Amino acid sequence: MKRLNIEQTIGDSVTLHPELVKVYMDFGVDFCCGGDRTVKEAIEKDAHDMDALLLEADKAIEHATAFAVDASHKKLSDFTTSQLIDRILTEHHTYLKSELPIISELMFKILMVHSNRHPELFEIHKLFGGLKTELEGHLVKEEVQLFPKLRTNEANCQALIKELEAEHDVAGDALHELTDLTNHFKLPADACTTYHMVYEKLKALVADMYMHVHTENNVLFKRFI
Ligand SMILES: [Fe+2]
Ligand SMILES: [Fe+2]
Repeated sequence: MKRLNIEQTIGDSVTLHPELVKVYMDFGVDFCCGGDRTVKEAIEKDAHDMDALLLEADKAIEHATAFAVDASHKKLSDFTTSQLIDRILTEHHTYLKSELPIISELMFKILMVHSNRHPELFEIHKLFGGLKTELEGHLVKEEVQLFPKLRTNEANCQALIKELEAEHDVAGDALHELTDLTNHFKLPADACTTYHMVYEKLKALVADMYMHVHTENNVLFKRFI
């Protein structure tokens, strides 16, 4: 059985084996912010059961290898810089621009209807509102300031990259907090369809942000710092 190399960085392990994303997420291991930690360090800090995680990781890698003949997708590390940026824009930025306003509107609806019985919704609403505002500014900085420079390989992007990485950390903290406040998106018994949609969309947002930040921090930005 193919073993996961626990001495490589956790970011590199995802670049090499994208199938590990689900395993890391299931075990609460952060692979996008702090992507320079070794797999061993990250698992020791974030996951409770290293043996169980390694077992699942090996299974995922084995499964992906078995179906590799069918894998038409390239690894992120094989993308050119422009291809990576295009992928980030089409897969992640477009998604955020479309989903953030929808979640915001739905969130306000459930706040109106359910906050009496679920006062934690005030905190969730406030946290999401802050995250949305932060992310909107962040997307603009990347699209207007950074990405055009990276496409033409301009020098002196390090300070801006560091600033954007720091913003990723702030967003990552907010996403962890959202996950905790919603008890890992566990719906209360009296949740309506809208409540259900909000939690489902928040969960999808967390998963998408993990891949988004991983692609930027551990693949794209790494080429320029
Ligand atoms: Fe981005
Ligand atoms: Fe970003």
